[in-house]
Amino acid sequence: MALYRDSTGKVDTAKKILKVNHAGEFGAINIYRSQIFVSRLLNRNLVPLLEEFLADEYRHLEIFWTEIQRRGGIKCKSYWLCGLGGWGLGLVSALLGKRGIMACTWAAGQLHEIL
Ligand SMILES: [Fe+2]
Repeated sequence: MALYRDSTGKVDTAKKILKVNHAGEFGAINIYRSQIFVSRLLNRNLVPLLEEFLADEYRHLEIFWTEIQRRGGIKCKSYWLCGLGGWGLGLVSALLGKRGIMACTWAAGQLHEIL
C-alpha cells in the first residue's frame, strides 16, 4: 500500500510543490511582520535583524511566484491560511521575548533545510 499518491488531476507535482512553498514563504513573511510589530514595542534592538529576515522572505516569495507564473500556475488554496497562521505564530513567539523569536526563526530555518 502506497503512503503517497501523485496527483491524477490537472496540477502536476512540481506545480504543487511550488505553490506550497510559495504559501510557506507568505507564512514566513507574516511571522516576521508580526514579530516586527511586537518587537517595536518590546525589543527594539531586534527590529533591524527581523527586517533583514523579512526582506529575504520577500525575495523567496518572488522567486516562487515567478516560477509559478512561468508555468501558468495560481496561488495555493492554503496561501491566506499560511499567512494567517504565520502572523499568529509570529505574534505568540514575539510575546515570549527574544528567546521565543529566535526559537521560531531557528525552527523556520530547519524547515528550510529540510525542504
Ligand atoms: Fe523563505
